[in-house]
Amino acid sequence: MEDEVRIPITSDADLVPARAEGRALANSLGFSRTDATLIATAISEVARNIVVHAGCGEILMRPQREHDRYGLVIIARDAGPGIRETEAVLERGYTSRAGLGLGLPGARRLMDEFHIVSELGKGTTVTMTKWRFRDELERLRDKRHRRG
Ligand SMILES: Nc1ncnc2c1ncn2[C@@H]1O[C@H](COP(=O)(O)OP(=O)(O)OP(=O)(O)O)[C@@H](O)[C@H]1O
Ligand SMILES: [Mg+2]
Repeated sequence: MEDEVRIPITSDADLVPARAEGRALANSLGFSRTDATLIATAISEVARNIVVHAGCGEILMRPQREHDRYGLVIIARDAGPGIRETEAVLERGYTSRAGLGLGLPGARRLMDEFHIVSELGKGTTVTMTKWRFRDELERLRDKRHRRG
C-alpha cells in the first residue's frame, strides 16, 4: 500500500521510531499536534505491551483516505501468548503482571476505534484508528488544488 509503514518491535528502543513514524503520518494526514501526540501515546502503549507481554512483534501504520475523513490505522500484532479475556483487559486495572493495567483502556480512550483479536498460544492483534473529519471547505480546496 502507498504509504504504509511497518516497524518491528523487539525492545523498548523501538518505541522511539514507532512514535516518530506515527507522528509523521498523523502530520501528513493533517491531524492537529494534539491529536498526533495522542496517537503517539496510544502507539507507545501497544508497542510496550508487545515488548513486555509478547517479547516481539510489529506495528503497522496505514493511512486511510476517504472522501470526508482521513484516518490513521495502527495495527500492533505479535505471536505471543495471547490474551484470555479480551473484554476484561479493556477495563482499568486488569493486569497479569505488576503493571497498572492502564495501557489498553488508555489507548482505547485516545483513539476512535479499538479492537482486540487474540488467541491463546497464537498471539494478539490490536487494531485502532483515529479519524479526522474533512469539512466542505477543505474538500473544495483539495479539488481545486488537484485541478491545478
Ligand atoms: N500483546 C499482548 N500479549 C499478551 N497479553 C497482553 C498483550 N497486551 C496486553 N496483554 C494483557 O493485557 C493486560 C492489560 O494490558 P494493559 O496494557 O492494559 O496493562 P499492563 O500492560 O498490565 O500495565 P500498564 O500498561 O498499565 O503498564 C496485560 O497485563 C496482559 O495480561
Ligand atoms: Mg501495558
